[in-house]
Amino acid sequence: MDEARMVEALQELNPAPRLLMGPGPINADPRVLRAMSAPLLGQFDPQFREYMSQTAELFRRVFQTANHATLVVDGTARSGIEAALVSLIEPGDRVLVPVFGRFGHLKVEIAKRCGAQVRAIETDWGSVFPDEVLEKEIRKYKPNLVAVSHGDTSTTMAQPLAGLGRLCREHDALLYVDATATLGGVDLPADAWQLDVVSAGLQKCLGGPSGAAPLTLNARAAQRIFRRRHTEQGLRTSDAVDGEGSAIRSNYLDLAMIADYWSEKALNHHTEATSMLYAARECARILVKEGLANAFARHARASDAVTAGLRAMGLALFGDQKHKMANITGVFVPPGVDGEKVRRALLSHFAVEIGTSFGPLHGKIWRIGAMGYNARADAVLATLGALEAVLAGEGFKIQRGAAVDAALAVFRHRAD
Ligand SMILES: Cc1ncc(COP(=O)(O)O)c(C=O)c1O
Repeated sequence: MDEARMVEALQELNPAPRLLMGPGPINADPRVLRAMSAPLLGQFDPQFREYMSQTAELFRRVFQTANHATLVVDGTARSGIEAALVSLIEPGDRVLVPVFGRFGHLKVEIAKRCGAQVRAIETDWGSVFPDEVLEKEIRKYKPNLVAVSHGDTSTTMAQPLAGLGRLCREHDALLYVDATATLGGVDLPADAWQLDVVSAGLQKCLGGPSGAAPLTLNARAAQRIFRRRHTEQGLRTSDAVDGEGSAIRSNYLDLAMIADYWSEKALNHHTEATSMLYAARECARILVKEGLANAFARHARASDAVTAGLRAMGLALFGDQKHKMANITGVFVPPGVDGEKVRRALLSHFAVEIGTSFGPLHGKIWRIGAMGYNARADAVLATLGALEAVLAGEGFKIQRGAAVDAALAVFRHRAD
């Protein structure tokens, strides 16, 4: 590092103000950031253990479950996905993954690394799977596990899941749902929909930073996972008995061990990421206090305002609108406009960040998120106003003011 960069590196951290309206991360609720700066406690301090059990209880409300094994995996949302899959899958298991975007491919890749025989079915990006297709595949393939995203941020689509849990039970398969992008913003009642394992992250509808993965597993999943419980050598007491089946292939992400750590046994595993636990607790606390139904309505309203504004600007929305996620909207970059140049101008002139997408959609669509702390009228209106100004500057024919007016009308008429 040259001297000039070292001088910079010795400056106090001072990130520029930004309005993060992409697919996540979003701006964390200031209350979450405050909670993260609370003094550290030892991980077996009775007060800290109480915070852990409060966090579990708050997340039971968020997941709409009575599952005892409700906990937070330390790591980004991907750690929750990987913990679920590595703990559920035994080498040779048959796993069905419906892929409707990048995060379906991620589950295929993780399941393969866990030694599963994976059947991936794909649908065009911008669409989801009809129930009949999933049913046919389950009947034909007879998977031990179905692993699916609820919302895939890469395409902004949400897979309907209300009937899938029942179907999996009828065919003796477990169902894992990646709710990273939807938990807290869109209804996902884990118990009512018979979802066996659900995991998420904080950085979308929950209004926190990334770095913690709330997860819940029911008795069916617990039976599959705890059967393989192997206690770490250095923690074993003389009465330790190993479970049957092969040991879970990850130590850090072994849900049997993580659940033991979260349980009354408080069996040592990792050193809890104290500040992230505070963040997770605060995210769940804020949401439960707001009320899940209110939070879902707030996200739906913000989504309607975003789509009304984009349409009023003359832009075309991406994907099957019937299955669009409430918290993220995909919109085509208009012909003749350089999408990346627009994103750069939004950031440098307005401090507003929106997203591009991955793979086949890279450079073709923008993704605008209005979620968590940012599912607010002022955040949506500022974003639309900025986009309108930048697009007009790029020579795109636009009726100035129409987008903000259309969005404002949604907020005015649907205020509660
Ligand atoms: C559906 C889905 N799953 C998983 C992830 C990965 O999350 P993380 O980057 O926090 O590991 C994301 C991130 O956008 C996501 O949208």
